[in-house]
Amino acid sequence: MKNINLNVITKSKSYPIIIGKNIIYQINNILKLNHFNFEKVLLIADTKIPKKKLIILKSKIKSEKIIIHPFIANERNKSFKSINLILEKLFKYKFNRNDCIISFGGGITGDVSGFAASIFKRGIKFINIPTTLLAQVDSSIGGKTGINNIHGKNLIGSFLQPDLVISDVSMLDSLPKRDLTCGYGEILKHSIISDIKIFKYLKKNYSKILKLKTPFIEKTIADSCKIKRNIVQKDEKEKNLRKTLNLGHTFAHAYEATLAFSKKLNHGEAVILGIISSAKFSLENNILNKKDYEQIIKHINLLNLPMNLNYYFKKKDINTIIRYMILDKKNNSSKINLILIKKIGKVILDLKFDKLKIKKFLNKELLN
Ligand SMILES: NC(=O)c1ccc[n+]([C@@H]2O[C@H](COP(=O)([O-])OP(=O)(O)OC[C@H]3O[C@@H](n4cnc5c(N)ncnc54)[C@H](O)[C@@H]3O)[C@@H](O)[C@H]2O)c1
Repeated sequence: MKNINLNVITKSKSYPIIIGKNIIYQINNILKLNHFNFEKVLLIADTKIPKKKLIILKSKIKSEKIIIHPFIANERNKSFKSINLILEKLFKYKFNRNDCIISFGGGITGDVSGFAASIFKRGIKFINIPTTLLAQVDSSIGGKTGINNIHGKNLIGSFLQPDLVISDVSMLDSLPKRDLTCGYGEILKHSIISDIKIFKYLKKNYSKILKLKTPFIEKTIADSCKIKRNIVQKDEKEKNLRKTLNLGHTFAHAYEATLAFSKKLNHGEAVILGIISSAKFSLENNILNKKDYEQIIKHINLLNLPMNLNYYFKKKDINTIIRYMILDKKNNSSKINLILIKKIGKVILDLKFDKLKIKKFLNKELLN
């Protein structure tokens, strides 16, 4: 199967996304074709990627100096401390604006690398080689970079569109099933936001997609990238339409923060949980019809995850969840701002709810 090429055109930058199998072997050609020529490269590499793949990538990049910066990807390392270590290395090796940072990892590595790239000398070249399904379908596109702090998730960050995204599906071979499912959650989210046809395609083919079968996995990644690309092109800085991509995220971020970003619930799982909460809340508020609600829940159940809030939380956690929901950066009042589902393929933005209403909802969801 040939590589799939997509172009993202935003006000700040235009760049290609290239999707295919084993394409890290072609990186030198891809760089040449796109007129990239770097003297120095800082390769920020997730330590869980098989060593063999890192060695292949390093050997295929033709550059005078390639420095590998190993990175342990977890939400605690999505921090200023990690950014400082990267910046120190860039200064130590005298990087300038025409040199490049390459992120070789999932969404966490990409968000941290992108943030460092955006602030070093006010912006250095940035290439993203996403190695998780979530990063290939979502976080590598659109230019959001960021880190967490004690006040919550992704509250410090910038917009920096990458110069190039290379999604090699063979990188997913070593990805744990749990992380594959998380990526699938974002794919499902994209279909619920904007395309019932893709929702139906996913329902029919989810098993082949999760087994990484060609051409299903490549088509699914490309379709999902197109949905996000089309939204980002219209609203790069999240003034309005781009907010739809946050479906489920106000709940999700609060769930993650309440559990102190523990491994018990990773980001993708929190998003799936957040989509379930949003769907149920939409149904209870007569925004979503029962048939579409049941289709969404049935689809999520196929993923076989512990998708019940009671597995993670008790009633005593409700106040903490609400506190984090109010802190969410999408809020600009004391009310809680939610994106809810009208039907599969259409969501409604900026619905504001009193915290007591959400408290009542969570109280009903949690058994004890
Ligand atoms: N910038 C955006 O627009 C955006 C969008 C969605 C999510 N995000 C962020 O992305 C993060 C989640 O991304 P993620 O799910 O990719 O998490 P991640 O980066 O933590 O990766 C998940 C796990 O997979 C491991 N891993 C990565 N590649 C691997 C490979 N090829 N083989 C084996 N193991 C591998 C990592 O070490 C980690 O343990 C969150 O912090 C979230 O906030 C950002």
